[in-house]
Amino acid sequence: MSSQNEPLYGGRRETRVTVRDIAAAKARGEKWPMLTAYDALTAAIFDEAGIPVLLVGDSAGMVVFGYDTTIPVTVDDLIPLTAAVVRGTKRAMVVADLPFGSYQASPRVALQTAARFMKEAGAHAVKLEGGMRVAHHVEELAAAGVPVMGHLGLTPQSVHAFGGFRVQGRGEEGERLLRDAKALEAAGAFAVVLEGIPSALGARITESLHVPTIGIGAGPGCDAQVLVWQDMAGLSPRAPKFAKRYADVAATLRAAATEFAAEVTAGAFPAEEYSYR
Ligand code: KIV
Repeated sequence: MSSQNEPLYGGRRETRVTVRDIAAAKARGEKWPMLTAYDALTAAIFDEAGIPVLLVGDSAGMVVFGYDTTIPVTVDDLIPLTAAVVRGTKRAMVVADLPFGSYQASPRVALQTAARFMKEAGAHAVKLEGGMRVAHHVEELAAAGVPVMGHLGLTPQSVHAFGGFRVQGRGEEGERLLRDAKALEAAGAFAVVLEGIPSALGARITESLHVPTIGIGAGPGCDAQVLVWQDMAGLSPRAPKFAKRYADVAATLRAAATEFAAEVTAGAFPAEEYSYR
């Protein structure tokens, strides 16, 4: 069976997921999962779990670097994280986020930044935020052979322009987002993330595009769903309404650290089995 006939999730594929596999999944009507990843060990676990696409998101700004927004994140911050995720995986497509200020100035600047992610970190694709205003950037990247994932709706790099993390695309603004999505597709984007928009709009955009949509707070009608892994696994102290917690990793880590501390202070660790003769 060629890899394009294997499901993106749950099949027996051993090679890297490519843009062709993602297009084939849309044609089959298959739904698939995507997670963020920022380090080699976590990425390896998600890769073994069969997650077909891992995003090194600029959400690293919050969940790795401790900022309030994604805006301070730089290319130099994300390149080592992306390289680690690529090294930790065998099968997942690794998508690198282009940080705020690293691509908006011109299509040429976008290409220079994307080239760094591909050459220095081994990224297989890049993601950038915006609709029609970045359509020429997407065209330039696609023409140069860079797979591009778009990102529309509650795009976190525009948080100050939105006046906070607010749902986008309600009412007439939904038409603009639909036009933006079509412009990204026409420019050559292979997939479009839809964040923080009403479910009905998510479904409408998904039906209107030939490329897959990846929802995050955009309802069940999207082709794929993405979550920040720390929100999904219960490590983030606060998570948005759309982020279901599938585990309580924070409680597990807290309990492990507390038990370690208790054993060290009591002189119970290291016992002989953890010591050298
Ligand atoms: O930076 C990020 O993690 C993202 C996803 C939430 C889509 O852009």
